[in-house]
Amino acid sequence: MYAGAKGIFFALSRSAALKRLASKYGMRSRDSFARRFIAGETVEEAIDTSRRVQSEGLHLTLDYLGESVRTSEEATAATRAYVGLLDVIVVAGIERNISLKLTQLGASIDRATCVDNLRRILDPAGRHDFFVRIDMENSPWTQMTLDIFETIWQQDYRNVGVALQAALYRSERDVQRMNELGARVRLVKGAYKEPDSVAYPRKADVDTAFLRLTKLLLDEGTYPAIATHDPAMIDGTLAYAAERGFDKSRFEFQMLYGIRRDLQAKLSAAGYAVRLYIPFGREWFPYFMRRLGERPANLGFVIRGIVREK
Ligand code: FDA
Repeated sequence: MYAGAKGIFFALSRSAALKRLASKYGMRSRDSFARRFIAGETVEEAIDTSRRVQSEGLHLTLDYLGESVRTSEEATAATRAYVGLLDVIVVAGIERNISLKLTQLGASIDRATCVDNLRRILDPAGRHDFFVRIDMENSPWTQMTLDIFETIWQQDYRNVGVALQAALYRSERDVQRMNELGARVRLVKGAYKEPDSVAYPRKADVDTAFLRLTKLLLDEGTYPAIATHDPAMIDGTLAYAAERGFDKSRFEFQMLYGIRRDLQAKLSAAGYAVRLYIPFGREWFPYFMRRLGERPANLGFVIRGIVREK
């Protein structure tokens, strides 16, 4: 069921007809169903949400949605949008932290284009003290993402970190490598349907790997982000940090906008840094479908939402 639901929703996320239907109803009004997970389609809505999140004592990272762009014009447009977003964030005075995907910047066109576009964002980001997190996409992109990350790291960019997925067998090696570099890792379970040849098919094994990698990051990493809504992973992190006498400032928790607000508030009230990943933009459909794939029960509120809107 674990891998099965992800696979079904991944396949559906490629359906143009479903995308049209969802786009019609998902964001139409203030309580349309996609707004549960997505701050809105415009940058103004994202800034409003960010202000609200900050006023609750939470940290944030803003993600301008988009992925798998097919032409260099689209990659250039996404890059420009990100550069514009930096300016908007500076003017708004909210926290300077963004997340992005390399296939949005042209990784599927060619690597050099992607590196150039990434630098176009990292340069102004560095001047304005932003931290830039590179999300991890599905496994055909893992090696390229890490190669590009190392390329820019060797070019002395330090305002950047990467996400690694506990689901992949290779991730222990990748965590070790990032720890050696002193690079900041966001650890996630992994949102994509992957073949058994590269990833643990059973949720229990992903969870075991997540806790193992968390310990490695807490012991040897640089300000890791433990990104999960799973109370067992959070308790495991807290127990290990207590056992080793690690200070709260050694790591942060991260969660997705709209998921487990109770846990976000509880950890933040207990003095832990909690950062919310706030996605926005018109290209919200694949992101939204991954959230459904993680928890098929979410389909209920989508169906209720469509019926209400119609
Ligand atoms: P798990 O799936 O076991 O869920 C634990 C509990 O959380 C559930 O029981 C439920 O209560 C709640 N929950 C989880 N997902 C939910 C949902 N969709 N709707 C409602 N409740 C839900 N992945 C990736 O491959 N690359 C990346 O770069 C990122 N980036 C990223 C950033 C941040 C800040 C987070 C929190 C997550 C990601 N992810 C990601 C997604 C990640 O890989 C994973 O798919 C989700 O976090 C769900 O896994 P959990 O760790 O929450 O555990």
